[in-house]
Amino acid sequence: AAAAPLAAILKRMRAGVAFTGAGISTECGIPDFRSPGGLWTRNRPIDYPSFLASGEMRAEAWRRRFAMEAAFGGARPGRGHRALADLLAAGQLQAIITQNIDGLHQASGVAEARLVELHGNSTYATCLECGARYELGWVRARFEEARERAPDCTDCAGPIKTATISFGQPMPSAAMARAGALSGDCDVFLAIGSSLVVWPAAGFPVQAKRAGATLVIVNREPTELDALADLVIHADIGDVFSAALER
Ligand code: OAD
Ligand code: ZN
Repeated sequence: AAAAPLAAILKRMRAGVAFTGAGISTECGIPDFRSPGGLWTRNRPIDYPSFLASGEMRAEAWRRRFAMEAAFGGARPGRGHRALADLLAAGQLQAIITQNIDGLHQASGVAEARLVELHGNSTYATCLECGARYELGWVRARFEEARERAPDCTDCAGPIKTATISFGQPMPSAAMARAGALSGDCDVFLAIGSSLVVWPAAGFPVQAKRAGATLVIVNREPTELDALADLVIHADIGDVFSAALER
């Protein structure tokens, strides 16, 4: 039932933008942050100042990352990812703005040029001083050799961190600029699987609506921005998009 009005909007969408959160990846087995059982209900996030200030926090951050990798490293894209990849391929979506760090949009075949990662990517790491890139396997081997001490950059001795944006860390300026341009110039803005509580990311649906886009929110639970939307669907993302694309 919920799929019919979405199908109607998708049918006339010509320059849409999708904005995704952790809810699009839960059917792939990756927990979200704020639902019961979500990551932030189990562990408080390690913010950027704490990561920088303490070797013990850096070690804890890496322990968590390797535990995530063991649990969810094999995750594959789900129905929501595939539906958005299809809409991109059909030329109806311009791009996907994601808050997710799991790399599953890329894994569904979305080109980097069509993807804006607002909160970075956890599938690799970088030196916070010089930007040198490190693969997780390399970090893990050094971490284990050094009895769970976080490794530093081999070029400049700076701290190495997953390429994600932590609370208290500056937002990536190029990604923010791209997301702003897309949000200000789209006919439909699809906010999918996000509680829409984390700013500045949650500002993009607001910006799109103000600029005249049709705002659609698809999320199991109510979000902060439901009152602003033209269409709100409280249902499972995979179910809703599969049904809407079939129509
Ligand atoms: P949240 O955990 O805050 O919200 C995910 C939303 O997805 C929840 O409201 C769920 O109800 C919904 N949801 C889960 N599975 C679903 C499904 N199968 N179908 C429909 N809805 C579903 O995650 P985000 O909004 O992505 O930041 O969180 C935003 C940011 O907060 C994240 O990017 C992360 C976190 O701290 C960083 O890592 C910097
Ligand atoms: Zn370095």
